[in-house]
Amino acid sequence: MDISALKKEFEKLYGASQHKSYIFFAPGRVNLIGEHTDYNGGYVFPCALNFGTYLVVRKRDDKLLKLASVNINYKSVIDISDINKKQDDKWVNYPLGVLNEFLKLGIKLTGLEMLFYGNVPNGAGLSSSASIEIATAVAINELFDAGLNGVEIAKLGQRAENEFVGVNCGIMDQFASAMGKANSAIFLDCITLDFKLVPLKLKGYKLIVSNTNKRRGLADSKYNERRAECEKAVEFIRPYKPISFLGEIDLEEFKILEPKIANETIRRRARHVVTEIDRTKRAVEELNTGNIEKFGQLMNGSHDSLRDDYEVTGYELDTLVEEARKIPGVLGSRMTGAGFGGCTVSLVPENEINNFINNVGENYNKKTGLKADFYIAEIGNGAGRIEIF
Ligand code: GLA
Repeated sequence: MDISALKKEFEKLYGASQHKSYIFFAPGRVNLIGEHTDYNGGYVFPCALNFGTYLVVRKRDDKLLKLASVNINYKSVIDISDINKKQDDKWVNYPLGVLNEFLKLGIKLTGLEMLFYGNVPNGAGLSSSASIEIATAVAINELFDAGLNGVEIAKLGQRAENEFVGVNCGIMDQFASAMGKANSAIFLDCITLDFKLVPLKLKGYKLIVSNTNKRRGLADSKYNERRAECEKAVEFIRPYKPISFLGEIDLEEFKILEPKIANETIRRRARHVVTEIDRTKRAVEELNTGNIEKFGQLMNGSHDSLRDDYEVTGYELDTLVEEARKIPGVLGSRMTGAGFGGCTVSLVPENEINNFINNVGENYNKKTGLKADFYIAEIGNGAGRIEIF
């Protein structure tokens, strides 16, 4: 759906008003490397995509909140005094959680008319939910002069997801959606939130996002389980080094501390985190010096560690990666996002893209019975306003 069709849909749904209408956009993201490191106090390296969530919004004079989605043909009316009540329809809790956070900041909200439209494939691990949160947050920030900057908006979106939706995610997705820059990836320290924008100079290569189209059934509970395992690893290490996060240990120290983790599974989880943080730092250095072959090898190392030590891949993701790596000239391929289904990201020579899509698609289908989707990643800007009408 294009912008003019979306505006028409909004007018059809809500009619005329004396208030101005606004359109905001917040992107989904793809993470290039640094997986399951954000909540461990490590580094991530995501970029914003050029697809995401559009929000058309307008104030009302009363206290009614009208929400609708083009994607799922959803409509509801909620009184502002009920914003803090979680709803049965899962997606609506993303905007409600955000509105609730603004109320907590003391922002006096009026009623609103909101229409959402998203073109991020749903449940594919490309942060469709963060893009709904951030689209809502930039809109409310502007309409009610809340004065938050991009980093504060990202943090507010994360709080909404942790506290209202109940998913214990890290800061990566909301940060990428709020702070992304076209043709750059964000090298983010997840403790200090210091970041550098790194230009993505891929010299004849493209990033191809491949969607397993596998439903991510248990993703949320498995995600929370991994977080708990990392906390256990910290407990094992604490008698020897007073850390709060695994991200405070480097590779050298880990060699010494690893035997102190008495449980084999927990030890492997910790090993993934420590080695992944190291790979992420090295990957950024390699990209900065133009060594994309090395960057690709580190992507491969990341996937293998997520498969063997962190165990968040599964047959579909592993098959997509395995098939991708067979295509001539592919420099690296790995899962991206939380895992348990979702997408991979691969570094593919421009002249092999058609071959990649055809062959990987066909072999994946033969092995899994599923049809993969492929997107050539275009790296876009973070969230913002598109139009007032
Ligand atoms: C999800 C979470 C992020 C991050 C990734 C794994 O996308 O929302 O915070 O933890 O998984 O890297």
